[in-house]
Amino acid sequence: MGVRFLLDGDVVEIADVDPTATLLDHLRYRMGCTGTKEGCAEGDCGACTVLVGELNGDGVQWRAVNSCITFLPMLDGRALMTVESLAGADGALTPLQACMAANGSSQCGFCTPGFVMSLHGRCIGAVGHDLPVADVIAGNLCRCTGYGPILAAGETTAAVTQDDAAVAHTLKDLSSPDTVSGEYQGRRWFAPRTMEALVALLAEYPDARMVAGATDVGLWVTKGMRTLDTLIFLGDIAELRGIEEEAEGLRLGAGVRYADAHAAMARLHPDLGELVRRIGGLQVRNAGTVGGNIANGSPIGDGPPALIAMGAELTLRSIEGARTMPLEAYFLDYGKQDRRPGEFVESVWIPRPAKHAVIHISKLSRRFDSDISAVCGAFNLSIEGERITSARVAFGGMAGTPRRASECEAALTGQPFTRATFENAADALRADFAPLSDVRGSSDYRLEAAANLLLRLWHGAQGDTVSVLDGLAAHG
Ligand code: FAD
Ligand code: FES
Ligand code: FES
Repeated sequence: MGVRFLLDGDVVEIADVDPTATLLDHLRYRMGCTGTKEGCAEGDCGACTVLVGELNGDGVQWRAVNSCITFLPMLDGRALMTVESLAGADGALTPLQACMAANGSSQCGFCTPGFVMSLHGRCIGAVGHDLPVADVIAGNLCRCTGYGPILAAGETTAAVTQDDAAVAHTLKDLSSPDTVSGEYQGRRWFAPRTMEALVALLAEYPDARMVAGATDVGLWVTKGMRTLDTLIFLGDIAELRGIEEEAEGLRLGAGVRYADAHAAMARLHPDLGELVRRIGGLQVRNAGTVGGNIANGSPIGDGPPALIAMGAELTLRSIEGARTMPLEAYFLDYGKQDRRPGEFVESVWIPRPAKHAVIHISKLSRRFDSDISAVCGAFNLSIEGERITSARVAFGGMAGTPRRASECEAALTGQPFTRATFENAADALRADFAPLSDVRGSSDYRLEAAANLLLRLWHGAQGDTVSVLDGLAAHG
């Protein structure tokens, strides 16, 4: 079987699909749709932004994604909108495009189609349309114009009503209840529809490479030039996309995309919401999943340190059944996780913060938006009276894995909530970590920054300690 998707009213069928061919290359080199540009081929610049529509009940939910790291099988059963799709019958510009042309939002024009698609998504109510314009285009880079006129165009353009009835109708016809699969030059790929089918596939191909949003795996291909053999695409398994908000906490299916998790995570704690808002740009959060962020085991992924501090638990599943572990136990060593062949990440459970918890999550990156952490620190302290009764402290960017800082936790636990306690605990971080120096920060910088994040927590609680504690208690 091949891949079928809807573009401008026509069903595009690709019979012989290279499973790691990107949508961008297909558009430009196979379909001659060169309006979509390639800037970086790694999800960073947004020049390749397109809108992808998924059936959502009787309607269609659109989202902006980076086509340079979207593999073709991920488009199966979906609708696509490119910058060419916006052209009016006589080449007329949309009001957004006309506004951008009139106010100098474009110079060399290379970034322009990407900005247009991100902002058009906002106009038609795509995922994230309720975010401020600056957040919607944080994943789009312009090297010449400056952002002022682009932001202004985004602010001035009104919502557009989009009739998706015909698109929804076709997507229903295209949707398949059974696993879609293919083989290309001896490389197999599968797109199962159910968790049961995924379990069976992984039992047969335990070393298959799973692909969720491809915001990590995509770069292995476009930048690492890797050839991936057996691939299992997870994007059509609705059971992995569950978001369950309960009195005791929040359960997120591994396949929940960060953009979809954002609101529930922000409700659990505002710092979690802010952390998610700063994961990549909107295009990356529209594709990248909570499970992919954990499963890849990156030492600088933002989700794991925050979730470890919150006391999260990870559930994995295979044909043997399910097993659950504290999230920190999953990360064994650099590049090594406690995932057995044939197992997949099913969900993560994040308990609601305790009533008197003080939670603080800080991400330090070289660029504020759309950048990966140099250091990410997460603190979850239980307070009784003036005393810290328990402490969960976790960091990313400080070791080969996201890790708890056990010496620091010991220096906080049982101690009064004073500056001296936090200074001691900051010193203790030197016993916890010997970070590496790399392009994101030197070892010394990382140690000092981590210590300062702890002191920032203390300073943040000063001035009005009671109201900070009360505010967090009210939240809990
Ligand atoms: P994929 O790329 O699909 O997969 C990643 C890994 O996880 C693969 O090994 C895959 O086999 C495995 N996997 C996926 N799902 C499962 C599962 N259910 N069970 C078992 N294994 C699974 N990350 C951050 O933390 N913070 C950032 O600010 C950030 N910014 C980024 C900016 C850009 C431009 C890009 C390209 C990436 C950025 N990332 C960032 C990294 C990436 O977006 C996240 O790690 C994302 O959550 C990965 O999810 P995914 O679904 O795309 O994973
Ligand atoms: Fe830069 Fe795709 S080409 S994000
Ligand atoms: Fe040249 Fe934006 S107009 S990159």
